[in-house]
Amino acid sequence: MLRTILLGPPGAGKGTQAAKIVEKYHIPHISTGDIFRENIKNGTELGKKAKEYMDKGELVPDDLVIEIATTRLLADDCKNGFLLDGFPRTVYQAEKLDSFLEKHGAKIDKVLDISVEKEELMTRLTGRRVCKACGASYHVVNIPPKKEGICDVCGGQLIQRDDDNAETVANRIEVYEAQTMPLIEYYEKAGNLVHIDGATGLENVFADIVKALGE
Ligand code: AP5
Ligand code: MG
Ligand code: ZN
Repeated sequence: MLRTILLGPPGAGKGTQAAKIVEKYHIPHISTGDIFRENIKNGTELGKKAKEYMDKGELVPDDLVIEIATTRLLADDCKNGFLLDGFPRTVYQAEKLDSFLEKHGAKIDKVLDISVEKEELMTRLTGRRVCKACGASYHVVNIPPKKEGICDVCGGQLIQRDDDNAETVANRIEVYEAQTMPLIEYYEKAGNLVHIDGATGLENVFADIVKALGE
């Protein structure tokens, strides 16, 4: 049983580490950002609403996100744990998540706070490429695919996310500092926060995460 949250600024490596964590611990990866992008791709009403905020680097309204996340957590595959990536992102979302879990006799075991310096975040996000088909994340310099423009995992086409331009990234980082950083204190108080240095390279970061979660 492992119920865990990946916290950290845009570009900290949440999605990159999530892919490795779910493979090792066999729990579902729940990224609210991925759910929204899937909805945008499929042209749903939810996708249309979310896109207005995402393109500006603003947060999607709390109530909408909470509804999406808690509905997902009710699915059968979450019975033995889950990895939340990018949710919660405000203290209000965290409180709602706690009361939802409590109602179901559950609680969060570990919160992993991945930290990386601001300047590095900008470099990572403007150089990021993601697979159009499976969502795998690469970086033109740091973590290049074996073949340029092609996903190692599935052979899909690599593209840039709409919100990975310098202007939107700058706003996403500001929004993170104002609205999400208070969660560090929230979970510190709850006693289940672990700090992870996100700037040490992909495999080192993962090794630290495994140390924190246990084999
Ligand atoms: P979301 O999709 O969650 O984006 P984000 O939080 O901005 O985070 P990213 O996905 O950009 O970064 P990441 O930490 O996953 O980094 P990655 O591993 O890809 O949210 C998008 C939007 O949706 C939000 O702006 C908001 O509008 C909305 N939203 C989502 N959830 C919401 C919520 N709960 N409430 C309200 N709104 C919500 O890595 C980044 C780059 O770095 C890659 O190129 C990667 O290859 C590289 N890299 C990774 N690790 C390393 C390393 N160790 N060394 C060097 N390079 C590395
Ligand atoms: Mg991500
Ligand atoms: Zn792929």
